[in-house]
Amino acid sequence: MLTIALGSSKGGVGKSTLATNIAVELHDAGIPVTLVDAEEGSPTASLLEEHVPDIDTRAVSSQAETARIVDELRAAGRVVIIDSPGKTGRQLTAACMLADVFLLAMKVCERDLLQSGAALAVIRSCQLQHEGRPQAFIVYNETARDDAEASSFTRQLKPLGIPVAAARIRPQRTVRRNTTIMRGPLRTSGAASDIRSLVEEVIVPRLVAATQGGVNG
Ligand SMILES: Nc1ncnc2c1ncn2[C@@H]1O[C@H](COP(=O)(O)OP(=O)(O)OP(=O)(O)O)[C@@H](O)[C@H]1O
Ligand SMILES: [Mg+2]
Repeated sequence: MLTIALGSSKGGVGKSTLATNIAVELHDAGIPVTLVDAEEGSPTASLLEEHVPDIDTRAVSSQAETARIVDELRAAGRVVIIDSPGKTGRQLTAACMLADVFLLAMKVCERDLLQSGAALAVIRSCQLQHEGRPQAFIVYNETARDDAEASSFTRQLKPLGIPVAAARIRPQRTVRRNTTIMRGPLRTSGAASDIRSLVEEVIVPRLVAATQGGVNG
């Protein structure tokens, strides 16, 4: 129905955290969602299997397998979330080619800004080849709502043509390392409520369009 891919220019910026919590948010809203984990060792799928076993997950080990499984899941009317290593050109391109919505995770730091150009060029090239698909957004992770530098980043990123999502994901101090599921008491405040805002801003409108036949699949 709708395929959402996470990517980044470098590792460790929150792709898996966003993928996991977007999946939880959609699942809890009653939407049939599958998380496709293309990372080596499938850590995100394992984490979800352990903590939220009722969410469907698939571990994939090649780009061909990812494409085949995404096709199957789309045909079955499921929302698919692809969590990939995503920091190398080929993986980013592959995820981008499969996605209706592409979220480029970024921290507000100079190094991420400098490195983002190549990833944004891949996304733009994909959009030019596929009539604007995927719709892409930059998502600031671990960035406070009132972070002044973020606004300056947004101005610098504007000419590159990929919008920055208004929803920023705050640093969540209570998240234990590598246990990134924000559920239970965490869900109504902090980063989890930011994830909900992100879902409402960038995913729900496309989900509505897809169910009304606006997105092919
Ligand atoms: N908003 C946040 N608040 C607190 N901790 C966070 C947040 N986002 C990510 N983290 C932590 O930062 C670390 C890296 O995040 P994550 O694994 O999601 O990044 P990644 O982009 O998937 O990394 P990789 O490139 O290795 O796959 C994790 O320990 C995670 O728990
Ligand atoms: Mg990851």
